[in-house]
Amino acid sequence: MIFELRNITKYYGDTLANDDISIHLNEGEILCVVGENGAGKSTIMKILYGLEQPTSGEILVKGQPVRFRNPSDAMAHGIGMVQQHFMLFESLTVAENIVFKREPRRGPLLDKKAMLAAVSELSERYKLKIDPSARIENCPVGLRQRVEILKILYQNAEIIVFDEPSAVLTPIEVEALLQTMKELAAAGKSIVLITHKLNEVMAVADRIYVMRSGKLVAERKKEETSTDELAYLMVGHHPATREIPPVKTGETLLATEELSLHKDGRDVLSKVSIHVDGGEVVGIAGVSGNGQSELESVINGLEAPTGGKVLLCGRDVTHESVHTRRELGMAHISEDRFLWGGAVSGTLSENAIMAKEEREPYNHKGFLRKKKITEYAGSLIERFSVKASGPDSLLGELSGGNAQKLVAAREIMMETPVLICCEPTRGIDIGASDFIHNEILNKREKGDAVLLISSELSEITTLSDRIYVMFEGKIVGEFNRGAVDEKALGLLMLGGKIDA
Ligand SMILES: Nc1ncnc2c1ncn2[C@@H]1O[C@H](COP(=O)(O)OP(=O)(O)OP(=O)(O)O)[C@@H](O)[C@H]1O
Ligand SMILES: [Mg+2]
Repeated sequence: MIFELRNITKYYGDTLANDDISIHLNEGEILCVVGENGAGKSTIMKILYGLEQPTSGEILVKGQPVRFRNPSDAMAHGIGMVQQHFMLFESLTVAENIVFKREPRRGPLLDKKAMLAAVSELSERYKLKIDPSARIENCPVGLRQRVEILKILYQNAEIIVFDEPSAVLTPIEVEALLQTMKELAAAGKSIVLITHKLNEVMAVADRIYVMRSGKLVAERKKEETSTDELAYLMVGHHPATREIPPVKTGETLLATEELSLHKDGRDVLSKVSIHVDGGEVVGIAGVSGNGQSELESVINGLEAPTGGKVLLCGRDVTHESVHTRRELGMAHISEDRFLWGGAVSGTLSENAIMAKEEREPYNHKGFLRKKKITEYAGSLIERFSVKASGPDSLLGELSGGNAQKLVAAREIMMETPVLICCEPTRGIDIGASDFIHNEILNKREKGDAVLLISSELSEITTLSDRIYVMFEGKIVGEFNRGAVDEKALGLLMLGGKIDA
């Protein structure tokens, strides 16, 4: 047993985040931790990594009781954690980040040759390809994650904890990451993976813990279980299936005409013409990085196109601000919740009425009406089962998935004719994802238009009445519900052509 947590209990104020949890990790094992949003997964791992102190309970590393006051203490005992928000220095190189604070030196000077040799050796040993002299600011997310892993390995970590590492990655990068985990385990490292993606669990886990409401509710060996059973253990019931009635489309509520965006010397969007009619969910399928994010920001007004138009409810809004577009009837679940979606240091009430703060009944003649706002925030929390102590909690105190639920709830409940959903269920557990999917379908039934941009292909194919395929900034295909040829769709997403 490489580590053991015994009877760990953790309170945040009155919130019981971990309730008498006892878990362990064996050497060379890949352990997965699954559970609903707010189940306490991140908390138990933060305790192991010295980021949080337990209210009671014991930590043992290789049989010895230890106390971690901070992550450096945990690191000194061989425990490393890949955080969701990377902690790298943008202006330093890959190699400099990896050896940071532990630089090989010759006298007082940095020994550059030794640094490069050490970094290259690590990168080869664990098959983590990097360019040691590239600057972090020029590295895509997948590569940054590799640098984080190498940094932990350079510090001789024996235990590596990953908290939802795949949420930010493209499917190809996810494949590579899962392969890396297997290589690391084969090399004797011990891995903990927190994830909501049960297919990832079934691909790499040796053993799985399931958590619910702060408690450990099950332990399974991979061979003994299935995605179905894990889903059941997580939410306590089987998912309901829903019949989707045939589409009844109304007028076009959102359209783009030959939208183009030329940026950093290339055409990120080329003459993109799409339309979403009332009563319709339209999906954009594509491998991340093919212009979807730019399409999102041009439609929302965060970025101006170099050519073409955006039409909202028949009106040309190409040169209107984000604020005006919202006023005219566009809501938006943003891909990046924390950059655009919500204010971490604000209360749930403040976050709930964002963009409504000038409206009745929340604002009367220039005065905010606290009671109405609190009531409204309370109703979102209840309807979307956001796990929080109340409207006065700070958004930053919620678990990752619950913060996202609140932002999604706010945008869906704007009741606008047009809703743009970008990765609406990223980081959200299976039960809550079903709920959000239902809310999207309810909007459709009311006759509103929904544009869905998602890297989860199954989310796109389940919900969409029509699907556009995007590749290198262009629309390269279109499918109607019921006529989706998955093979052709996959091929188009990768830039292939379909023989006529
Ligand atoms: N800093 C904090 N202050 C107050 N409460 C907190 C804090 N961090 C977490 N909590 C609460 O502890 C509980 C467990 O949160 P945790 O982040 O461990 O959940 P999780 O299982 O990681 O969920 P998710 O899948 O959404 O990431 C939640 O109810 C959360 O609101
Ligand atoms: Mg978490």
